[in-house]
Amino acid sequence: MALRIGDEAPDFTVETTEGQIKFHDWIGNGWAVLFSHPADYTPVCTTELGYMARIKPEFDRRNVKIIGLSVDGLDDHKGWIQDINETQNTTVNYPMIADPDRKVATLYDMIHPNADNSLTVRSVFVIGPDKKIKLTLTYPASTGRNFDEILRAIDSLQLTAQHQVATPVNWKDGEDCVIVPSISNEEAEQKFPKGFRIIKPYLRMTPQPNR
Ligand code: BEZ
Repeated sequence: MALRIGDEAPDFTVETTEGQIKFHDWIGNGWAVLFSHPADYTPVCTTELGYMARIKPEFDRRNVKIIGLSVDGLDDHKGWIQDINETQNTTVNYPMIADPDRKVATLYDMIHPNADNSLTVRSVFVIGPDKKIKLTLTYPASTGRNFDEILRAIDSLQLTAQHQVATPVNWKDGEDCVIVPSISNEEAEQKFPKGFRIIKPYLRMTPQPNR
């Protein structure tokens, strides 16, 4: 069955390029991004993995660990990482799950048989400190993902978790946020000392609280 937002992220123990991990223990008290690739030694994936290594400091800054997966073994992963480092001007600095028996791919419903019977689609799962799924995304094999968008979405998720604000269309870090409907105007006065604008009773904007 497909995993949905709010579900607990299934736990598993696997071999990775950085040793064996138990997923929930590895996540610890922070956030995590689990992202899958169709297969090793494929062109689009090569660019994606290289980009993720280059922007890893942005995930670190947000207390988010990142981990990749494809349905190949450790030896392939290690050889391919050398190619990624060579061609993408980076050093892969996060673990890659070896999943040759598709244990994790099956748990996370990453194989979509009507697209391809054996390869994983491009999935992204953002998982919170409570081990619950906060965001999912699924792209086909031929479309590389926009990982800057994942960072933007994590900024929004963390603002909601910490400050009870939502983010409007095309929001970017530093822009005004939306006060969630469950907060009354009286509570908002306490919670948002920078003030807020009531455009409609259900549409209230406040400066980004953590700025
Ligand atoms: C790729 O990662 O480059 C890729 C994989 C499968 C189909 C098309 C592209």
